[in-house]
Amino acid sequence: MTTLNISIAGLGNVGSNLVKIIEENYHSISYKSSLNINIVGISAKNKSKNRIFDVKKYEWYDNPINLLDINNTNIFIELIGEEKGISFDLVKEALQKKINVITANKALLANHGNELFKIAEDNSVKLLFEAAVAGGIPIIKTIKSSIFLNNIKKISGILNGTTNYILSEMENSKSNFDEVLKDAKSKGFAEQDSTNDIEGIDSAHKLSLLSAICFGSKINFKNVDFQGISNIQIDDIINAKKLGYKIKLISTSELIDNKIYNVVEPLLIKQDSQLANVNNVLNGIIIQTDQLKSLFLEGEGAGGRPTASSIMSDIYDIYENNNNLSLGYKIDNLKDFERVDNKEKSISYYLRIYVEDIPGVLAKITSILNNFGVSIETILQMPEKSKNSKEVNKVPIIITTHETTHKLLKNSLSEIENLKFVISEVTFIKIDKSIY
Ligand code: HSE
Repeated sequence: MTTLNISIAGLGNVGSNLVKIIEENYHSISYKSSLNINIVGISAKNKSKNRIFDVKKYEWYDNPINLLDINNTNIFIELIGEEKGISFDLVKEALQKKINVITANKALLANHGNELFKIAEDNSVKLLFEAAVAGGIPIIKTIKSSIFLNNIKKISGILNGTTNYILSEMENSKSNFDEVLKDAKSKGFAEQDSTNDIEGIDSAHKLSLLSAICFGSKINFKNVDFQGISNIQIDDIINAKKLGYKIKLISTSELIDNKIYNVVEPLLIKQDSQLANVNNVLNGIIIQTDQLKSLFLEGEGAGGRPTASSIMSDIYDIYENNNNLSLGYKIDNLKDFERVDNKEKSISYYLRIYVEDIPGVLAKITSILNNFGVSIETILQMPEKSKNSKEVNKVPIIITTHETTHKLLKNSLSEIENLKFVISEVTFIKIDKSIY
């Protein structure tokens, strides 16, 4: 029997479920692996809060920093979740004390990962983070172990459950973003402050970590362009469907001519693609390599049990004591790739233009697009009256373009927005037909 002494800071949903799994699966774990997971200390803000396990069974520490003084601790598990502050201090000190660390904290790693992984490497301990990306989906180990020797070309994923739930629910209930967000908060599917999720920041944190292990790039959150879903209207979802697409918040990382392309943005993707059919709170990821046309993983991207399951897999990784590097690469070998200018990429666009319903409008708009060399693929004939619109006379014109650059598109849209019958700023969303 090998005993691993672990301490846990943070006993919210994930931390509490972790303790519960260790208790419930004690016998199956030791039968399968001869591993004895021994919890030597726990800490959280509030000791008296009702939890799914009996706190009294474990040594309680009011100050999590004292967990790091417990003799013979093999693993410290950080589940407090601050972007810097106490989470950073704890992880750094644990690594310096040669204690392995497991964390679900993507914000911490996306912003300070290079420094922390380096400290782990210098002290010959691990800093593992399977739980930080896509909850229960074993995406980190799949890339870092199973397909590490493939040349990864591109990774695209739905990495945020909250936004995927909102987009799915908008489609199901034909409701607007604000209504669905309110409902999601009341049901506990969205946090009260959901800015990080809604604005694509949470996905961007996760993408910066995936990009590092896929391409050996330095972790650089600032290299990720991100955009959220708050400007998506129910009209867009309905119109996308008519055109054969679904709107999803897609995170993409790709090496193009030795430059890194890291973007989180809503995209219209083909409705029969695998990612288009990842619905509700689920996450899904597609990896394309020189040897695998498309490897697809789907599963629960958040929640107590799935996230704790990933922490268990990191505990098991440390128990196995293999020589895998925490990030797959030696930190000094990570490259500082120049970033691809997102605006230079040629791609098709979906346009939603609200206009007054008067004769000649469409001809004027199409002629401007034509003048700028933006070629039209489809115009939605007789689009439904806007579901948002109280004005009788306001109709959306929906246009999809052939591939064009952001620059040409923006120039043409500035001219279109100056037309007196165009009611508001034009909404444009990229169409990515290459997503599986
Ligand atoms: N807020 C995240 C999500 C939870 O909605 O996916 C896990 O990172």
